[in-house]
Amino acid sequence: MAPDFPVFPNGFVFGAASSAYQVEGAWNADGKGPSIWDAFAHTKGRIRQSQTGDVACDHYHRYPDDIRLMKSLGLDAYRGSISWPRIIPEGVGKPNPAGMDFYSRLTDALLESGITPWWTLFHWDLPLALQRRMGGFRSRDLAGIFADYVEVVVRSLADRVKHWITINEPWEYAFLGHVIGRWAPGLRNPFLFFPVLHNLLRAHGAALQRIRAIGAGATVGVTLSTMPVFPASGSERDLEAARIADEFINRVDFDPVLRGRYPDFLLRRARLLVPKMLPGDLESISQPIDFIGINYYTRDRARHAWYVPFLKAMVAGTGVVDREFERDGVPYTATGQEVYPEGLHRAAGVLRDEYGNPPVVITENGAAFEDRPEAGGVRDPKRTAYLQAHLAQASNAIREGCDIRGYFVWSLMDNFEWSEGTAKRFGIVHVDFASQRRVVKDSGLWYADLIRTAKARDR
Ligand code: GCO
Repeated sequence: MAPDFPVFPNGFVFGAASSAYQVEGAWNADGKGPSIWDAFAHTKGRIRQSQTGDVACDHYHRYPDDIRLMKSLGLDAYRGSISWPRIIPEGVGKPNPAGMDFYSRLTDALLESGITPWWTLFHWDLPLALQRRMGGFRSRDLAGIFADYVEVVVRSLADRVKHWITINEPWEYAFLGHVIGRWAPGLRNPFLFFPVLHNLLRAHGAALQRIRAIGAGATVGVTLSTMPVFPASGSERDLEAARIADEFINRVDFDPVLRGRYPDFLLRRARLLVPKMLPGDLESISQPIDFIGINYYTRDRARHAWYVPFLKAMVAGTGVVDREFERDGVPYTATGQEVYPEGLHRAAGVLRDEYGNPPVVITENGAAFEDRPEAGGVRDPKRTAYLQAHLAQASNAIREGCDIRGYFVWSLMDNFEWSEGTAKRFGIVHVDFASQRRVVKDSGLWYADLIRTAKARDR
């Protein structure tokens, strides 16, 4: 019997995603400057087993093979990111032609295979020099400096590339990198959260303006993470905690981008943390975009926590344990995330009902599981079930009027999962990091089948 595939509108984009630092390797090749992730990973103890992304999937050298794989899966589109320090090694100053040339070749190779590139312009690998000299995104100057880099890239690719994502997940970059210190640049200072977030959003605004000025029919968006928050109990205090946590985790960037303001309640609670805003900031941040990218993995539960400064809320839900398990019949992934497909439907509903139903692209969705390659392939039924359930929720949301235009699996292949190194595998293609051999997992074959079926219906 043919599997039961969710149905999507004609022209729906089916893709897979990755990011530069997680796949490219070649960390110092051809004039590339160091990024904050290179420095972070080269600091002992920061990454599980002191791994680094120096080689990762060696995609920098193996991209022709990787594109052949994408083609064999029938992908419409590939979402990757451009490494800023390959293009401008010191962050400012003279561009490095060899870096630009790499992305130009990569773009051409994708197009020749009938795959549409969607380039993310910042997926966290900030040129190290900008962190060292100016404190990175804590400096307001970074918005203009980012826009200058974006202009170099977009001018050189605008004739071939029509889809741009300015910034990936500003919340994670600001929070995990500057408050928790789990990710680069590895700082632990709650007072950096809002300034860094605000400057990232300003950088999005500044870049958007430059891309619009270049014209060339570009479609531009920004990618935000979304994580529906539920109260841990029915108590008043937990309901309040869920509301503040939702503002802090979700609305803190959806509101400025889509409504031109920060959530009031949060601003009142956390006044001391809020950066100086200048006239024009929010106007720039909320300029019209062509789509909003959302990354969805799981939900969160919030409970009242008197000991958390300002927010008085604590969320529990992700990363609590380090292996897959099942509780009350609900699967949890290898990164301890609850599998909760309904959350994607809910996130889409919030965008429809509370944010004016903008065009949405699901720029990441996927799961890590403990895959083991066997003779003849990789059986990963849990990932297939995860993808199937989430795609079904996306399809339902579209039927209910949500304007979802595309879906990108995270991730095309197993890659360097930030502080987890290569221990957590999100790919629909298995990578043996010692030999760099790739094998399409069963979930990849399933996804290819879904795409084929959708295309046959389109005709
Ligand atoms: C992102 C993500 C990816 C991760 C994925 C799995 O924000 O874009 O962090 O880079 O690999 O979310 O954790």
